[in-house]
Amino acid sequence: MHTRALKLLAFVASATGPLAFAQVSQQSYTWENVKIGGGGGFVPGIVFNPSEQGLAFARTDIGGAYRLNSDDSWTPLLDAVATSTNWDSYGVDALATDPIDTNNLYLATGMYTNSFDPNNGRILISNDKGNTWTASNLPFKVGGNMPGRGMGERLAVDPNLNSILFFGARNGAGLWKSTNSGVTWTQVTNFPSVGTYAPDPTDPTGYNSDLIGLAWVTFDSTSGTKGKATPRIFVGVANLGANNIFVTENGGSTWAAVAGQNTTFLPHKGVLSPAEGTLYVSYSNGAGPYDGTLGSVQKLDIATSTWTDITPVSGSDLYFGFGGLAVDLQVPGTIMVAALNSWWPDGQIFRSTDSGTTWTQLWEWISYPTLQKFYTYDDSLAPWIGPDSVDLTLGDLQIGWMMEALAIDPFDSSHLLYGTGETIYGSHDLTNWDTEHMITLSSLADGIEETSVQGLVAPPTGPLLLSVVGDVEGFVHTSLTTPPTQEFQTPKWSTGADIDYAGNNPTDFVRIGSDTGSTLQQVAVSTDSGSNWNIDFGAALNVTGGKVAYSASATTVLWSSSTNGVLVSQFTNAFVAVPSLPSGSIIASDKRNDAVFYAASGNNFYLSTDTGHTFKVVSTLDSSTAPVKIVVHPNISADVWVSTDKGLFHSTNNGTTFSAITGVTEAWAISLGAPATAGGYPSLYAAATISGTTSYFRSDNEGTSWNQIMTQAFYGSISSNPIAADQRVYGRVFLGTNGRGILFGVPAGSAPPPTSSASKTSVTSTIKSSTSSTSAKPTTTPTTHSTTASPTTHSTTPVSSPSPTSTSVAGAFSQCGGQNWTGPTVCVSGFTCVVQNPFFSQCVSSS
Ligand SMILES: *[C@@H]1O[C@H](CO)[C@@H](O)[C@H](O)[C@H]1NC(C)=O
Ligand SMILES: *[C@@H]1O[C@H](CO)[C@@H](O)[C@H](O)[C@H]1NC(C)=O
Ligand SMILES: *[C@@H]1O[C@H](CO)[C@@H](O)[C@H](O)[C@H]1NC(C)=O
Ligand SMILES: *[C@@H]1O[C@H](CO)[C@@H](O)[C@H](O)[C@H]1NC(C)=O
Ligand SMILES: *[C@@H]1O[C@H](CO)[C@@H](O)[C@H](O)[C@H]1NC(C)=O
Repeated sequence: MHTRALKLLAFVASATGPLAFAQVSQQSYTWENVKIGGGGGFVPGIVFNPSEQGLAFARTDIGGAYRLNSDDSWTPLLDAVATSTNWDSYGVDALATDPIDTNNLYLATGMYTNSFDPNNGRILISNDKGNTWTASNLPFKVGGNMPGRGMGERLAVDPNLNSILFFGARNGAGLWKSTNSGVTWTQVTNFPSVGTYAPDPTDPTGYNSDLIGLAWVTFDSTSGTKGKATPRIFVGVANLGANNIFVTENGGSTWAAVAGQNTTFLPHKGVLSPAEGTLYVSYSNGAGPYDGTLGSVQKLDIATSTWTDITPVSGSDLYFGFGGLAVDLQVPGTIMVAALNSWWPDGQIFRSTDSGTTWTQLWEWISYPTLQKFYTYDDSLAPWIGPDSVDLTLGDLQIGWMMEALAIDPFDSSHLLYGTGETIYGSHDLTNWDTEHMITLSSLADGIEETSVQGLVAPPTGPLLLSVVGDVEGFVHTSLTTPPTQEFQTPKWSTGADIDYAGNNPTDFVRIGSDTGSTLQQVAVSTDSGSNWNIDFGAALNVTGGKVAYSASATTVLWSSSTNGVLVSQFTNAFVAVPSLPSGSIIASDKRNDAVFYAASGNNFYLSTDTGHTFKVVSTLDSSTAPVKIVVHPNISADVWVSTDKGLFHSTNNGTTFSAITGVTEAWAISLGAPATAGGYPSLYAAATISGTTSYFRSDNEGTSWNQIMTQAFYGSISSNPIAADQRVYGRVFLGTNGRGILFGVPAGSAPPPTSSASKTSVTSTIKSSTSSTSAKPTTTPTTHSTTASPTTHSTTPVSSPSPTSTSVAGAFSQCGGQNWTGPTVCVSGFTCVVQNPFFSQCVSSS
């Protein structure tokens, strides 16, 4: 192989050897979300500030935190903080808004407390409601995407002396205190419990075996006076069968278990009703967010130290734990609680106006199969989020699941917000619950974009963009500013994995899913740019995930699967193995020659000229060990680019010879888009390290010189974010993220997107921490499907569709029985089918 001639640059000798530099300029770009609307992931926490009207925040598990705007939309706050090295700042395990100086906002960030995350956690501190941040490094990890992430809040500001904060840690690290507004932290060594509960102590990945630790910290504001440390503080701990709520009466000098507590379940929320002098607690028999088959709601009269069980339902009606708990600060005694997971027929929310003595609920059975709903449903801000009705046989849920975040606006009793596994819902007529018992339930997640994007295609014709995303399905995007009306239909898998188009027939698409245990084949094709799809019955049922490539004339699907190596199918015949390619090879189709496919593995580059049936090594990619992406010129056959851990390579002869692009030392996603001048070579976009800077770049001259097109926000780990360059609009590029949805970038000052509705841009702030670095090489890469055991996406499909046959196995928390049930009655390993009621049996964790 030969090396590309050097232009505009020189070799620079350094102590470690020659280093080549390419010319890099910065170009100001504007980045905004492609509007999906509705979130698309778990929202474990929503917190209103009790002192400033309208001030509220939401936290997510892999997509950062958001601030509520007066028009019900949300503004993302952490895009400038979640750099490629500090990607785990998008995992927010706790949030505290200061009741005294309402400008102050604190977040406990970090994604995992096990080996999935190399970084220790941080407390992020903002003095301007989240626009800018400083970081305080913690000496332990924080787990924003760990089990129990909906318990909380673990972080709290003293409502009488706001320089004091407490943080309850996971992982055995115990209780921590700051007396200087979060700048430094010391362990409260006399706190009696670090928590003993782990969801599955035998989990070899460390994910479910890690201690949940401390779950929430609640100050009793009424116990103190302004300007002095609050004496009474309650702390909830993940202990099962042992004391799990502790209290101090002297600001933390000494601690004791609260007398008379019932330790049967884990305390998820401890919410103070100051006017009543009451602490309300919701309990579940698991840490959540997916589990919970029993639970209770209790209240503590603080003055008399008396507990009362106020669980809203009992007997066979109680087949879930409790999560979200809210008090109406304007109307003492009005409280609400959510079933954490009522997987069938739907989620449930309860409301009491007499401090829990009596309750009403959001729906009731009239008689099976008729539900009486005490709400009307409005998903106009995210029409795809549906379903518009609850289908009892399909297990669709409308109200939601994983309901840990529930909050009533402290300044507006009619305003409710709650988080689910997929979105934020709420109401602006909540008080109608108490009069006509009918509220409007609305999708209120506008501006929250937290999908984990697996693949993007910006085709040369038809819709602007097609996406496949984790946990949801994927979308045809015909507008950048209006949410899609539906996700991909028929087939629907729990998670999309990849998508490709056919170069000569660019309305022909193939997509694959990674829905392990699904009763549907995981390949589907479309001939109408993704409006309609047909299952490819050539696929075996047990093959899932990976990457897919569609031949130029849409005759052949090449599939580098996660489970079964590389497979090929022509004319939708049965997929057959491609033994000449190693498992896990990256693959691509030529966009003009139907017979040609490309692949790479290690430093070998492979070519197939017989529609993917056999491959030969035709060249090597220097010392690369991990090729990432192959892209092919959309108009010219045999013109191929490959990104690897050792650089960026270009070939114009089917990969027979490659030039290494000077100055690029590592590259991930790459894409070719509209040329700068008509008829010129396509613009080239790369997520890469170029001349020592790791960022997103565009080259208009085949990689000779580069424009750095992202300088203010980072959107998490660069190594896992896919790119699709717009082939029609020069300069426009789409960027997929792992938890912040899809962005589009355009040169600053260029024309607005094709449709007009207002969209909120993210806050482009910088972090003022000495530890942050924007150019360092990323370490561990949190790609969404890197580890089968790694739950790096964050929500879940509620209940998988019933199978038409009874031979298959029901998935975790899925339906596995009930009257007239024809689906699977056996659960996946580790789960047992448990009768919940005559109509519904569910796979629950065996442990
Ligand atoms: C504790 O709670 C469990 C579950 O709600 C209940 O069965 C038990 O009777 C309670 N124990 C006491 C002493 O109240
Ligand atoms: C998938 O099913 C085929 C045919 O039943 C079987 O040969 C193969 O081993 C299975 N693969 C996996 C990964 O289970
Ligand atoms: C690429 O391979 C195809 C198939 O063998 C062949 O027709 C074509 O001429 C090759 N192109 C180049 C530039 O080598
Ligand atoms: C492909 O060719 C078409 C027709 O000449 C042209 O308009 C388009 O810009 C080309 N695409 C790229 C990415 O160069
Ligand atoms: C089961 O089927 C019978 C007969 O069709 C019907 O009457 C009954 O309502 C069904 N029950 C359920 C729970 O669907």
